[in-house]
Amino acid sequence: MEGIAYLEGVFMPIEKAKVSIEDRGFQFSDGVYEVIKAYNGIPFACEAHLDRLERSLKLLDLPLPGNRRELEGLIDEAILRSGFQDALVYLQITRGYAPRLHDFPDNVKPTLVLTVRRARPIPGKLYEDGVSAIVTRDERWLRCDIKSICLLPNVLAKEKASRAGAFEAILVRDDGRVTEGTTSNVFVVKSGKLHTAPPGNWILSGVTRAVVLGLACREGMTTIEEFFDPKVLVSADEVFVTNTSIEVMPVVTVDRQPIGNKKPGEVTQHLAKLFKEEILRYKQQAEI
Ligand SMILES: Cc1ncc(COP(=O)(O)O)c(C=O)c1O
Repeated sequence: MEGIAYLEGVFMPIEKAKVSIEDRGFQFSDGVYEVIKAYNGIPFACEAHLDRLERSLKLLDLPLPGNRRELEGLIDEAILRSGFQDALVYLQITRGYAPRLHDFPDNVKPTLVLTVRRARPIPGKLYEDGVSAIVTRDERWLRCDIKSICLLPNVLAKEKASRAGAFEAILVRDDGRVTEGTTSNVFVVKSGKLHTAPPGNWILSGVTRAVVLGLACREGMTTIEEFFDPKVLVSADEVFVTNTSIEVMPVVTVDRQPIGNKKPGEVTQHLAKLFKEEILRYKQQAEI
């Protein structure tokens, strides 16, 4: 079994879960999602992910199906039923099924889809050697803080990276601000200081980003949440990207230009190690 799905109150194998063509997620991308990683059966930073989900829902005027406690229980149950220790939990909530008219339908029931798949281990070599990135235009809408299922600009930019043999595409607005990656937040280390774009409508404020910033502060590092331009990126001592599934991934070339000595930097490796420790600490706390 590839994984399990929960749809309309029932658990089933993923391939059996079907949603109507009338779903507004299918018709309009009218919905939001979250991805949570479970380590040893425990969903890491679950509260932060659900806080972000609730915020995204609110901004689209969508209700949370059921309540928060029920959703937490559902996630735990789904992980348990999947039998996977390390898993990716995907949650999607759309406005529901209705005839295709743009304005919000009356009396519609949101569609909640939850899936759990085995988290495929990311090859260790990527962390040892670092990955490459390209820089491309940020063509997304103005509310990147909403974790909307409308991901077409991200998909196109990621495909551009893939075709260039790169791991990630780093997005830059027309005014020269580096915002984030297609599926990640971007960090730069320069003269011992950690830079990343500020929270707000231009980025999705990553849960991993927040944990990494917290760890860096704890280590006494100066953290600067301000936009920087692509020149800062390529002249950085270190670059790394973060997200729920890859955690802290070193980037060693940007547009084929080497970053530092083209090896994962010390700060990046240190933060990646602290992040792993944080996962363990979280698990221990959850078990108490
Ligand atoms: C555009 C974008 N930015 C940042 C992130 C990182 O978010 P998180 O660390 O919560 O996974 C993601 C994750 O999917 C993303 O899609």
